Amino acid sequence: MESLRLTVYKHKKFPLGRLRYMDLVIKIRNITRDFPLGNEVVKVLKGIDLDIERGEYVALMGPSGSGKSTLMNLLGCLDTPTSGSYLLNGKDVSNMSDDELAEIRNKEIGFVFQTFNLLPRTTALENVALPMVYAGASKKDRTERAREVLTNVGLADRMDHKPNQLSGGQRQRVAVGRALVNRPSIILADEPTGNLDSKTSEEIMKLFGDIHKAGNTVILVTHEEEIAENAHRIIRLRDGMVESDTKKQFQSEGARVGQ
Ligand SMILES: Nc1ncnc2c1ncn2[C@@H]1O[C@H](COP(=O)(O)OP(=O)(O)OP(=O)(O)O)[C@@H](O)[C@H]1O
Ligand SMILES: [Mg+2]
Repeated sequence: MESLRLTVYKHKKFPLGRLRYMDLVIKIRNITRDFPLGNEVVKVLKGIDLDIERGEYVALMGPSGSGKSTLMNLLGCLDTPTSGSYLLNGKDVSNMSDDELAEIRNKEIGFVFQTFNLLPRTTALENVALPMVYAGASKKDRTERAREVLTNVGLADRMDHKPNQLSGGQRQRVAVGRALVNRPSIILADEPTGNLDSKTSEEIMKLFGDIHKAGNTVILVTHEEEIAENAHRIIRLRDGMVESDTKKQFQSEGARVGQ
């Protein structure tokens, strides 16, 4: 499989190097994304390479207009690149049809948006269970799993509330629950705290921390250095290219445990 590699790493405790199993959940090579605009073409992503291992916690930063959301939409299979390759869990998704992408998205990706994007006339429980409807799960399984996930995000007592009966932070918790419900390989969040006050942002960041600690791969876009500090790796985009990519610490074993 493309995503699996054995790599020898030099490590203090193991002077001879130690064998480490590297499990790439994302491998992109020379990705570009152009948008036609009238008679012109806007070149937004200009050749991005990126490897993300299972279990990493990544913050994607960069000035407004640098291409963060465009890249996240590609990573989340909401869009396809103009050129370049994207392997998600070793599978090439760069040339898939819309139907194939929809299936991969539902199974492998949990997306959290700045504006929550919940169905308004639907309860928290039904919002969280929705991706399982598309996955073909039974009503019983959906309800059981959605209850479990809502309890994990601290909303056991708000399951029957509709979005307008919830606070901003609670709505974002529902959105995080919806992102987790199908046990995806990656959680992508585009400015998940952009519409929240600082205390509520902290709560949501704690939740992302817990999700990461449970073994999940998390990639989030933020403008705030303080939020980015929660991540173990910070990738900065500038003008459609990777300007810097820094890892805070050696990250060990990437195996994903339950959520
Ligand atoms: N559909 C489109 N057609 C034309 N240009 C687009 C389209 N979508 C995005 N762009 C352009 O691509 C550039 C990057 O947009 P993107 O939304 O990825 O930026 P961003 O880094 O997420 O910015 P922000 O921090 O403001 O959210 C912008 O200059 C934008 O105008
Ligand atoms: Mg954006």
